[in-house]
Amino acid sequence: MPQGIPEEIIDEIRQRTDLVGLVGEYLKLERRGKNMVGLCPFHSEKTPSFSVSPDKQLFHCFGCGASGNVFSLIMQMEKLTFPEAARFLGRRSGVNIPERRSVSPAEDDLKERVFKLNHLAARFYAYCLHNTTPGKNALEYLLKRGIKQETIELFMLGYAPADWTGFFNFARKKGVSPDLMVQGGLVSPGREKGHYDRFRNRLMFPIANISGNVAGFGGRALEEGEKNGPKYLNSPETPVFDKGSMLYGLNLAREEIRRSKKAIVMEGYTDVITAFQAGIRNAVASLGTALTAEQGRLLRYQAETAVTAYDSDSAGEAATWRGLAILQASGCLVQVAVLPEGSDPDSYIRQYGPESFVKLIDNASPLMEYRLQQLKRRFNLASDQGRINYIEELMPFLMAAVNQVEQDFYLKRASEELGVNEEALRSELKKRRGRSGRYREQEKKEQPDEQEKITARPEEKTIISLMLQSKEIAEEARNLLQLEFIEDPKIREVIEEIWDLSAGETVLSAEKLLNRFEDQEIIKLITEAVTKPLWQDLPPLVAKRNIEDSIKKLHKNWVNKKLRVLRKKRESYEAQGLLDEVNKLLLEEQELLFKKDGDPYR
Ligand code: UTP
Ligand code: MN
Repeated sequence: MPQGIPEEIIDEIRQRTDLVGLVGEYLKLERRGKNMVGLCPFHSEKTPSFSVSPDKQLFHCFGCGASGNVFSLIMQMEKLTFPEAARFLGRRSGVNIPERRSVSPAEDDLKERVFKLNHLAARFYAYCLHNTTPGKNALEYLLKRGIKQETIELFMLGYAPADWTGFFNFARKKGVSPDLMVQGGLVSPGREKGHYDRFRNRLMFPIANISGNVAGFGGRALEEGEKNGPKYLNSPETPVFDKGSMLYGLNLAREEIRRSKKAIVMEGYTDVITAFQAGIRNAVASLGTALTAEQGRLLRYQAETAVTAYDSDSAGEAATWRGLAILQASGCLVQVAVLPEGSDPDSYIRQYGPESFVKLIDNASPLMEYRLQQLKRRFNLASDQGRINYIEELMPFLMAAVNQVEQDFYLKRASEELGVNEEALRSELKKRRGRSGRYREQEKKEQPDEQEKITARPEEKTIISLMLQSKEIAEEARNLLQLEFIEDPKIREVIEEIWDLSAGETVLSAEKLLNRFEDQEIIKLITEAVTKPLWQDLPPLVAKRNIEDSIKKLHKNWVNKKLRVLRKKRESYEAQGLLDEVNKLLLEEQELLFKKDGDPYR
């Protein structure tokens, strides 16, 4: 059971939160029969298999199996623990959650403490920017770059002082433990003794997560030169900061991205800030790395189209190419805006103005178009080898095409470029289709590790499903089913919880049951059991018949397994000549065989 928050409160939040509305904040839903469907936010797909049942207040993806209720949705979407998700929804639905009564697991607590520490640090750096002499120089620098006071405040920009312990001493005075500061990535332990600040003499860019909490920082060196370290220094991995799963500015851009259905992906913090200030409010930046699948998914929740506006010099880089493929694989329609040599969005907007930049975005090329142009530039199509290389690189892109129409269109275009017959290219493509495309493999690898899989027999699934449909059936099952018939301890646990619930409640609620578990695999199992159409709305007699049959099958299985074990044992005793033992086992086997053939339930 989720710790800490009383069950009545959880209930209240659940009742006040409509799953359809909640899902609708993340993705587009369309009605299909009794349910609503949309593109699954938890895996990459092009046709909707994510289904939400308004009646049951449950979601289930028939593609990847993700499922659950409002709490599971928020846990997975916002990467929160159960108590965090409950607080999130509590705030949203106006249900006040009393402060923790019991101590929560250390990890939750640590996350919260690191967020608080980051918040403190952001305030400290902002203070230094405005109220210290070296900070004022940094402020001057920002203003000179055209960043206005209100923008500085909106993005919470700051300045980290140059001395080695400015933040450390400040935070110590506030009672923060050095250990927490280290865990938050703000200070490092000295080689011999003491601690020193990670960020020194840097312009500070707090990096907020989607809910606006500061998860980490980017710090820009104000002086160049090797001894000053890299141009940008970011927070290290901390309990709340993982570069690959965040996008700078998303908390501010989210609204406009959802409205316009379009996100602009840039490289730098300053690009996003300048764009925002110029009224282009749907821009985000990856944090100094090529785009990851995680970031692709984050974007896909909000946007249909992602337009990249990278610095002109990074356009041809391998990491950029890979990033674009990953973005496409996440299900976004990807377009590429090409900036003139030597510009980035920041300098472009300052030089040519926002209208011109918007035009650049509106005229961005579809990813495939852009790739064809790039390939044409890279290879000499007059030589055989050049054409072979071109085709080699083109094929995986064609295979990753959004749909048949796109594939055909670019296949034709490529055949024109190459001066080869379209059919020849098509058969080349067919030859490869058996093998999986490069990019899809990559996508798979990036999927997070799964929790321990549950292996449920079909009968077990039927039993759970039917038990959840009525108290009577749950009772019936209780009389017939022995838990030892079930192998997987997780499934046993589910069944026990159902019995426990059905003892107390007047109506059995699958949602209540779900709230007793945090294991995603169990949640999946339960949700599937209550949403799979096959098992729904059976007449009571049929349901009863089904549950009896399923239990019988499980029983038979169990007996057979025991018999196999006994037989093995007996054979080994026989070989050793232990006749007494053999006889005992023979009797046991007989008894089991009788139970199996003579129906024990009649
Ligand atoms: P840029 O070097 O293009 O920086 O790096 P910028 O944002 O345009 O900054 P200004 O305009 O020169 O001040 C783009 C992004 O790459 C990451 C940062 O996220 C930066 O915003 N980066 C760059 C690093 O993480 N480390 C580095 O050393 C350099
Ligand atoms: Mn740049």
